[in-house]
Amino acid sequence: MLPRTGTNTASIDVRTALEPNDFPAVPSIIGDISALSKVLKANDRNSRLQVLEKARELVRALETPRETMIKHTWAQNTAFTAISFGVDTGLWKQWVENGSNVPQKVSSLAAQLRLDPAVLGRFLKHISAMGYIIETGPDEYKLTNFTKSLSLPIIADSYPLCLWSINNALANLHGYLRETDFAEPTSATDGNYQHAHHIKADVFTHFQENPPNGPRFNNLMSGYRQGRPSWMDKDFFPVEEKMIDGFDPSGDGVLLVDIGGNVGHDLDEFRRKFPDHPGKLVLQDLERVINQIEHLDEGIVRMPHDFFTENPIKGARAYYLHTVLHDWPDDLCVKILSRVSEAMKPGYSKLLINEQVIPARNAHWEATCLDILMMSLLSSKERTEAEWRNLVEVQTGANLRIVRFWSVGNGVENLIEIEKVL
Ligand SMILES: C[S@@+](CC[C@H](N)C(=O)[O-])C[C@H]1O[C@@H](n2cnc3c(N)ncnc32)[C@H](O)[C@@H]1O
Repeated sequence: MLPRTGTNTASIDVRTALEPNDFPAVPSIIGDISALSKVLKANDRNSRLQVLEKARELVRALETPRETMIKHTWAQNTAFTAISFGVDTGLWKQWVENGSNVPQKVSSLAAQLRLDPAVLGRFLKHISAMGYIIETGPDEYKLTNFTKSLSLPIIADSYPLCLWSINNALANLHGYLRETDFAEPTSATDGNYQHAHHIKADVFTHFQENPPNGPRFNNLMSGYRQGRPSWMDKDFFPVEEKMIDGFDPSGDGVLLVDIGGNVGHDLDEFRRKFPDHPGKLVLQDLERVINQIEHLDEGIVRMPHDFFTENPIKGARAYYLHTVLHDWPDDLCVKILSRVSEAMKPGYSKLLINEQVIPARNAHWEATCLDILMMSLLSSKERTEAEWRNLVEVQTGANLRIVRFWSVGNGVENLIEIEKVL
């Protein structure tokens, strides 16, 4: 039996904790950064991300274990709380309205927002110490590009939403796993999230029933996708050849159905990228979410639909699920996929699944952190290629067959092309 609490079983010298994590690697990382800097361009995503990863590697190598521990357990979570305080109180919005490039005094911001200057001053000092605002004088700061962006709901809303929903669940996860004998969670309505929040509902219902967290979640989904490679781009998936060529306008004449499409950001992008597309675009999500749509092209059909029930759109050219199946354990994914399969026309309709595909080695941290969140919030997971094959072709069956896994870049963004055979 492994010890489950901190017992004094350390077998290394305590000085290890005070030495840099990997000092011998430092010269070669600096060499890599120097070489990469020669090809670095602000508008070239790949070279920028390569340098960024190397810079992170450098920080990890130079830090001591004690410094890493303090950063993880004290510095980052307090910065998260301080930034979130700013979102909740309207600080970042007000600051930008006052002048996004103008240094501001703590006392005048506190007076404008009716806040205690002592509390605001302490939060801002920490945010400044963490490098997210710049100190320009005594109790005076100016915004950085990051903190200016906190005036945008698609960046800002994630902070209070995640502090409330995710952090609570993460703090509960170890205890929950211990209680369940460390079994992989599989219940969408009686898992860690429900235990942490003392509720029976699934995460999406919980968000929607606790305003303003429903709209905040929609903004988070909108912010998350910004700047990522998109399957609709030419170098990713051949939309013309796979979806538009061979489109049959008879019947309902639907080109693309976005199932669980939230407030329609993917279809909006599709319409912008393919303005002359044939057929209809249909957005489906829960009624409450459809009713929260603020801006959406009038040409996109809005349809309240629960994806566990029969899909009313039959024989569309393509059905699309984006970061939907990672929200659900296998048994419920089988139900969602079965409802889609029933609506598909064999040999004509496609199912496109836009999700993480976790590689056997060298998984990206954006995918692995989501995997832990899925376990903690939804008793679900990010899946490997083998798990996707098993879920779609074996567990669901229903004549679904994976045609190809499409991907670009670091593999975080993937599109699984599926057809229904006779
Ligand atoms: C992680 S979000 C993904 C949203 C969107 N596809 C995207 O990638 O931006 C999951 C979506 O599933 C929707 N959803 C949850 N349960 C649903 C259900 N039973 N029927 C239809 N949609 C549902 C949520 O409202 C949410 O918009």
